[in-house]
Amino acid sequence: MATYSYFATAAKGLEEALATELLALGLQSIKVESGGVGFEGSRTDGYRCCLWLRTANRVLQQLSSFECPTVEALYSSTVDIAWEEHLTPEMTLAVDANLRDSRLNHSGYAALKTKDAIVDRLRQRFGKRPNIDTKNPDIRINLYIARNQAILSLDMAGTALHQRGYRQEQMVAPIRETLAAGIIQLTGWNDSTPFVDPMCGSGTFPIEAALYASKTAPGLLGSTAYSFQKWPCFQVKVWQEVLGNAQSALHKLPDRFINGADKDRQAVKIAQGNSRRLPFANAIAWHQCSFSRLKPPERPGTLVCNPPYGTRLGEQDKLVRFYRLIGDTLKQNWTGWTAWILSGNLALAKEVGLKPAKRIVLYNGPIECRLLKFEIF
Ligand SMILES: C[S@@+](CC[C@H](N)C(=O)[O-])C[C@H]1O[C@@H](n2cnc3c(N)ncnc32)[C@H](O)[C@@H]1O
Repeated sequence: MATYSYFATAAKGLEEALATELLALGLQSIKVESGGVGFEGSRTDGYRCCLWLRTANRVLQQLSSFECPTVEALYSSTVDIAWEEHLTPEMTLAVDANLRDSRLNHSGYAALKTKDAIVDRLRQRFGKRPNIDTKNPDIRINLYIARNQAILSLDMAGTALHQRGYRQEQMVAPIRETLAAGIIQLTGWNDSTPFVDPMCGSGTFPIEAALYASKTAPGLLGSTAYSFQKWPCFQVKVWQEVLGNAQSALHKLPDRFINGADKDRQAVKIAQGNSRRLPFANAIAWHQCSFSRLKPPERPGTLVCNPPYGTRLGEQDKLVRFYRLIGDTLKQNWTGWTAWILSGNLALAKEVGLKPAKRIVLYNGPIECRLLKFEIF
């Protein structure tokens, strides 16, 4: 069986969590880098990764790596690739480019030259050229140039994997699904104890916890096809088998096993609506309640939340009082629990008034955050 080199991208800070997932999927030659993890595997492994990975943004199958000091070098190395093995003139394509510390420093121009080389090669072979579709192409090509070394890859899913398909509606500032899944993994929560998000907003933490605990491959929820399903080399039987295995892995959860609460009625309604597409939607109990009044489940477990950290002027005093209330509530009502708080505002996080047992740097989009662990004795 042919072996391919892959690179799965992830938000900064989640690389180790992604590597753990890849190990669990049985993948080989795992190499953790900044912004993602390289690994080797078969074509089937590429399909499995798109379906199963919870923390990856994209799965890239590498095609070629070459010195790229000039735009001429980019064109000539790209036109040499046997693109006719990957796409036909009837398919649409898009090129994404990311450049870092290189002589070529205009990503739009580099993407354009890459596209020209691909189109020229196909026109020469078939007398026809593929069209461009930047939004929903049949094949998405990824160009990455760092220190004048280029890597060209096929984006296997073609869309960002955080788009699981369950979030039909959202409140302001929802956390990315991939980040929520990574945080759950970092907490080390295992599904033998209760899980609570007392400020659940659109419900991302409880939903990701339910997906994880029920061994639901996140890709099973998606309604749109992956890019690789449109490729000439697509192995439909292999894919059916990968999907079948994921269906048989589903593990039923007890009802009301995971809890999501928010003081905002609309948030609870949205979170509940978002959870309807889950295989075991009843596993999550939703409550409209402010944190200070929320009654913890009988057995202690893991509490995870990202409280508001406010960017608007005038909000800070209110938030200082709120973070102090979080600390007081944890001490009074949540003895025996492990609480994990994600905050993008370090000054506010200190107002919780408890000593963190652990601090982990993570990025919520461009915002540098801390994930703080508190053991409530
Ligand atoms: C940053 S959002 C959480 C986003 C959420 N993780 C998601 O993925 O959508 C913060 C949430 O805290 C809720 N909140 C604020 N004060 C609260 C309180 N005292 N008790 C419960 N929830 C509260 C807000 O209504 C908001 O939904």
